[in-house]
Amino acid sequence: MLPGAEAERATRYRSKDARAEFVTGAFLVRAICATITGTAFADAEVLRPCRGCDENHGPPKMVAAPSWSLSVTHSHGRVGVAVARHAQVGLDLERIAGDVDAALERAVSSQSEFELLRSASGFVRHALFVRAWCRKEALVKAYGVGLGVPLSAVDVSGESPAIDSQRAVGLDVAPGACWLPLGCPWEGFASALFSDVAAVLVDEVCLADMAALADQPDRLAQLIPLLPWTQSLPAQANRAPRPG
Ligand SMILES: CC(C)(COP(=O)(O)OP(=O)(O)OC[C@H]1O[C@@H](n2cnc3c(N)ncnc32)[C@H](O)[C@@H]1OP(=O)(O)O)[C@@H](O)C(=O)NCCC(=O)NCCS
Repeated sequence: MLPGAEAERATRYRSKDARAEFVTGAFLVRAICATITGTAFADAEVLRPCRGCDENHGPPKMVAAPSWSLSVTHSHGRVGVAVARHAQVGLDLERIAGDVDAALERAVSSQSEFELLRSASGFVRHALFVRAWCRKEALVKAYGVGLGVPLSAVDVSGESPAIDSQRAVGLDVAPGACWLPLGCPWEGFASALFSDVAAVLVDEVCLADMAALADQPDRLAQLIPLLPWTQSLPAQANRAPRPG
């Protein structure tokens, strides 16, 4: 169903669920790219350059619209894509499930975040941790550095991030960079959206629940033209104008 490099990459997933999540994200990205650049779905040129190697598995970039940024996330059958013009965005989605894992909390939290977590317990503590994790991942994804930066060097407990620049090498967060309001429509999930500039230019966030597609994979192709199966959330009123 997907052309070129994406189709080839899809064949490399051993897990059916992981492949389905990638394919859904790639479809959303192509559909967005086709809309923004005015090209046919199959002709939309999307590259995924990785900073660390020659593989095509980094964040998606639209060749014909280089001033736009895209961020993809998937978790347990839910897929999200954010798109913005003149801003780098990072989107993350995580399921809130499982138990408190103090060792993991300690490894990825700043000292003050860890103190805050320790003052809570049970589900509340775990939910706080997952929410912070999402905020951290959204931030590092916006800058394209991913988990190459130690997450404990990124404190997300305030309205603006506090970065330990000695440890977060290569992460240059300008004043004003911030998380944007984003409601997560799914119970049991946390999400976060980060922009590297203060002026909010997020154009659209598409979120797809793959459960609706589970037994009908053919629907994916039919649904792409209008994306009626996504919940499309205009992040802010000042949507960026589309080119052309
Ligand atoms: C990006 C990253 C934080 C995502 O973690 P995750 O929570 O497991 O996954 P998510 O579902 O939220 O996001 C996956 C998406 O992140 C995007 N992505 C990959 N690398 C990225 C990066 N460096 N920055 C921003 N986004 C990235 C991709 O679009 C990917 O979607 P796809 O696999 O469908 O193409 C993590 O995979 C990472 O750190 N990757 C980079 C590793 C790296 O730098 N390696 C260098 C040597 S190869």
